[in-house]
Amino acid sequence: METKSLKEYVPGLAGVPAVQSRISYVDGFQGLLSYRGIPIEQLAERSTFAETAWLLIFGNLPTEAELARWNQELAEHRKLKYQVRDVMKALPEGGHPMKALQAGTAVLGMFYPPEGEGAYDLAHQREAIIRLIAKLPTLVAAFHRTRRGDDPIEPRDDLDIASNFLWMLSGKEPDPVAARLMDVSLILHAEHSINASTFSALVTAATLADPYTVVSSAVGALAGSLHGGANERVLAMLREIGSVDRVLPYVDQKIASGAKIMGVGHRVYKTKDPRAKILQQLAVRLFETMGTTPLFDIALEVERVVAARLGEKGICPNVDFYSGIVYDRMGIPTDLFTPIFAISRVAGWLAHWVEQLEDNKLFRPTQIYVGEQGRAYVPLAERT
Ligand code: COA
Repeated sequence: METKSLKEYVPGLAGVPAVQSRISYVDGFQGLLSYRGIPIEQLAERSTFAETAWLLIFGNLPTEAELARWNQELAEHRKLKYQVRDVMKALPEGGHPMKALQAGTAVLGMFYPPEGEGAYDLAHQREAIIRLIAKLPTLVAAFHRTRRGDDPIEPRDDLDIASNFLWMLSGKEPDPVAARLMDVSLILHAEHSINASTFSALVTAATLADPYTVVSSAVGALAGSLHGGANERVLAMLREIGSVDRVLPYVDQKIASGAKIMGVGHRVYKTKDPRAKILQQLAVRLFETMGTTPLFDIALEVERVVAARLGEKGICPNVDFYSGIVYDRMGIPTDLFTPIFAISRVAGWLAHWVEQLEDNKLFRPTQIYVGEQGRAYVPLAERT
């Protein structure tokens, strides 16, 4: 077969289609996001994370019977084998939870090796999908508890994914408003086309690596501060600003020095991220129940000043702008924000894994060589 050779170098492959996909659609100019054709607003209003994960992976909304079985299977597979728990306990308590999650996911794969060689058949795909969605929250919570010297809390099978996660972190019955907000946040973060971590998942999937390896490579990509870590940095920024009256000089100083304001601007969205709008509305409801936080007022003022200063350039709040504030108000430690992103995005990664295997082709881009040619090997003694 003839191999096409493109001579143009596109840094970061920006705008280069890497796949054809039916999973999610993003229109950055109109601020639209849909999963399998269903607008994100409708899913946030009416769906659950578990149902949305099914939609992303299998392509349609489940029937009542399918959803009941799916919820049951996801609840039944939350527990970790004791050896996996021991691995999480053995990790250094000062390490970042994303590293623990990446390690834990890879370790899971050693306990559930694929049957035979090659691509997974549908039954084995489904088993692996359930295990990964069910167990990632347990890995995060187990590491968080043990790093503080506490015993991990056993998952409960009578709670939904979000409520059970909050339960495993604290051992307290989760507030229903907080639990619903967490579930909606998981829906909002579950998929966003070919971002860096999903591309990483696809590249690994195309080698026919097992799904635990696929997901652990995606977790690694998500850990980078240019990708998953922005909501942590929004919180640090709001704390640094400290009060509403200091927002204007802060933003002006950042713009004057060419620095970025965290949580605003997006590679794709040139208007307000639809997910940020939903999270902002939910944040208001959470604060009505749990009491507000001064960080929210500072954030609203940052949004107002950024709109005045940078609105013309299409710089608006992105999904990370409000998610950190609400997680913080729920008492969740800052370094768990990106792992929470991962326990949601695993649904999107797995949807792309399944889609990739339907018509797999190994990724093998090329390069434009810009190095030297024809150099002679110099013996060690003659090098200066
Ligand atoms: N603060 C201040 N100025 C910003 C900005 C921000 N957060 N984001 C973009 N701009 C500026 C750019 O510097 C550029 O200025 P110029 O026209 O003078 O060159 C202009 O707005 C247009 O930028 P654009 O091309 O739309 O964005 P980008 O692709 O360069 O950057 C991000 C996109 C996401 C990398 C960037 O917005 C950013 O770093 N945001 C903060 C981090 C963050 O929240 N990341 C999470 C994304 S989900």
